[in-house]
Amino acid sequence: MIPLSLPEPGPEARAHSERLRARIVAEIEAAGGYIPFSRYMELALYAPGLGYYSAGATKFGEEGDFVTAPELGPLFGQCVATAVAGLLQQLDRPDWVELGGGSGALAEVLLRTWDGMGCLPARYRILEPSADLRQRQQARLRQGLPQHVLGRVEWIDRPPEAAWSGVLFANEVLDALPATRFRIGPEGPEEEGVELDAEGRFRWASRPADALLVRAVAHLSAGLERPLAPGYRSEVLVQLPWWMQAVAGTLQRGLALFVDYGYPRREYYLPERRDGTLICHYRHRAHADPFHLPGLTDLSTFVDFTAVAEAGQAAGFELAGYCSQASFLLGCGLDRLLAEPAEDPRARLRRNEEARRLVLPGEMGERFQVIGLQRGVQAEALFAFGDRSGRL
Ligand SMILES: C[S@@+](CC[C@H](N)C(=O)[O-])C[C@H]1O[C@@H](n2cnc3c(N)ncnc32)[C@H](O)[C@@H]1O
Repeated sequence: MIPLSLPEPGPEARAHSERLRARIVAEIEAAGGYIPFSRYMELALYAPGLGYYSAGATKFGEEGDFVTAPELGPLFGQCVATAVAGLLQQLDRPDWVELGGGSGALAEVLLRTWDGMGCLPARYRILEPSADLRQRQQARLRQGLPQHVLGRVEWIDRPPEAAWSGVLFANEVLDALPATRFRIGPEGPEEEGVELDAEGRFRWASRPADALLVRAVAHLSAGLERPLAPGYRSEVLVQLPWWMQAVAGTLQRGLALFVDYGYPRREYYLPERRDGTLICHYRHRAHADPFHLPGLTDLSTFVDFTAVAEAGQAAGFELAGYCSQASFLLGCGLDRLLAEPAEDPRARLRRNEEARRLVLPGEMGERFQVIGLQRGVQAEALFAFGDRSGRL
């Protein structure tokens, strides 16, 4: 459903969206009239030059469509930097690999903080599939970092292939992976996709699920207290085990940290969440119509953190911990950072407001979760303040 209050895009933005629409329509027609939703989401977000993340619109911050924790200010990054500094120091020539660097805000704060602490990682590598965002990250870091720090930053096109040690970090990346939509039909799971109506508009359609999706739905259902009822619709990242293997498989010693909105599986597939978790953001309004203004709208789904833990374990990691963002940041010393003297009263107010948004339950504090997967290190202490691994 589209809220009545959604702002109208300007003529240039609308024309951009129409170009992406035409690209998707051509693909639907070439495929015989239907594409899976996961493919629609991939095109809407990542079609070269046209998708939401591939093209040039402002996405993050007050001017964009949504605000992420690193975009609120430096506190999130300062907490993460201090929390993992000890771990980085235990490792020989550690790397930091950030997936999906957004505007570069997190990289800038992390590197500045470690520089101040004298514990910079050997390399800070950013894997960013969007050429536009990569350029913005480069511009920001060139401007904001001294040369001896900038020299450690590199952009990579694919996950590291050689063995490495360090930390893999992803904030709000899992929610942006193209999700498979399914519904429970009379004969079993069906895959939801997109077709064109008589006027050429996108509309939902479904097809019998393939063997991979049938297996994925059977697996997730096995962990639930009650079977999913006919008509139930939701999402699953069928590619997650392979994706995890691809991005983290060569991390020999270290920690993978994923921060995102989501739930343990039993809460994700609750009977009352019968329309799934797909959420669309356009200029700070959330709505549920993924076909409205493709290319100008962010599409995302909540994360099944039980699936993340399973994928990590299948890739050779053990669970270090799982907790809310509020617990994680408080356990990482957010309160100590807040107690430090501020430049002036206005700066103190700004910092308090930032902390409020990061940790309050009605803001990001309880909606966002942090999961840690470790190999050859002990990072449980990062989650000691409020670990909820037992709920996965
Ligand atoms: C919601 S944004 C979050 C950006 C940033 N981490 C932040 O918190 O501000 C999602 C980011 O993930 C990136 N992304 C999407 N798929 C990815 C993948 N497979 N590997 C790495 N990054 C990915 C997008 O290009 C984008 O930078």
